[in-house]
Amino acid sequence: MAVPDYLAQTYTWAYLRPRAVRLLDREVVVNAILWGNYSRLVRAACAQFHPGEHVLQAASVYGSQPLQLADRLAPAGRLTVIDVSRLQVEHLRAKLATRANASVRLADATAPGPETYDGVCCFFLLHEMPDAYKSRTVNALLARLKPGGRAVFVDYAAPRWFHPLRGVMWLVNRWLEPYAASLWRNPIASFAERADQFHWTERRLFLGLYQVVVAHRSGPGRRAAAHLRYAGPSPERNSPAP
Ligand SMILES: C[S@@+](CC[C@H](N)C(=O)[O-])C[C@H]1O[C@@H](n2cnc3c(N)ncnc32)[C@H](O)[C@@H]1O
Repeated sequence: MAVPDYLAQTYTWAYLRPRAVRLLDREVVVNAILWGNYSRLVRAACAQFHPGEHVLQAASVYGSQPLQLADRLAPAGRLTVIDVSRLQVEHLRAKLATRANASVRLADATAPGPETYDGVCCFFLLHEMPDAYKSRTVNALLARLKPGGRAVFVDYAAPRWFHPLRGVMWLVNRWLEPYAASLWRNPIASFAERADQFHWTERRLFLGLYQVVVAHRSGPGRRAAAHLRYAGPSPERNSPAP
């Protein structure tokens, strides 16, 4: 399977070289990249899932996040992780070798396969994708939810105007993360074609720099409340960086 162009062109240095994986897959590194918020963000994502559930994770993540999520679902629940990079799949398989309830396979997040899940976890993936890919990914992941299931998207968002790191993050987006600025302007729900079929909640952390968005599919245990459904505008695709 070929990796998508955006990944090869923008993120080879981070994900597609064995040396990069060895260097970056450390708790201290990912925590520094997230300004000390890694544990808090992982906890916020894992808290949405329950022991016994089967959860799909849309891509590999550096640090302990995949281990923590597998442990959260154990003993009866299962974690399935997909990743589009063969190197990442092999690396994560080795990392999760001690977790009998976790498996990893090669797949693109826009085509995760036919199975349905109690939950989907998408941790800092969308900001690395062009907007068209964001839409395809959000729609493909939401389609894999069982009735009553939920998808959790943890990612960057627009920091408050007085955030001391706002300027730094703007520069980081400009130089290293060209697809992230779109998440400063567009709610994640706006990338979903059938957003009205889900109940959306959004929480901001660290003065707005991070968002935890949960999409609940109505069904047993959850009925979509019409007045809470997302009815906002479509994303301003390809608009210039702020
Ligand atoms: C989840 S994202 C970023 C996570 C975060 N920065 C971290 O700490 O690792 C990185 C992963 O996404 C994978 N990826 C990128 N595009 C993908 C796609 N379309 N489908 C599946 N995996 C993808 C990359 O191969 C990489 O392993």
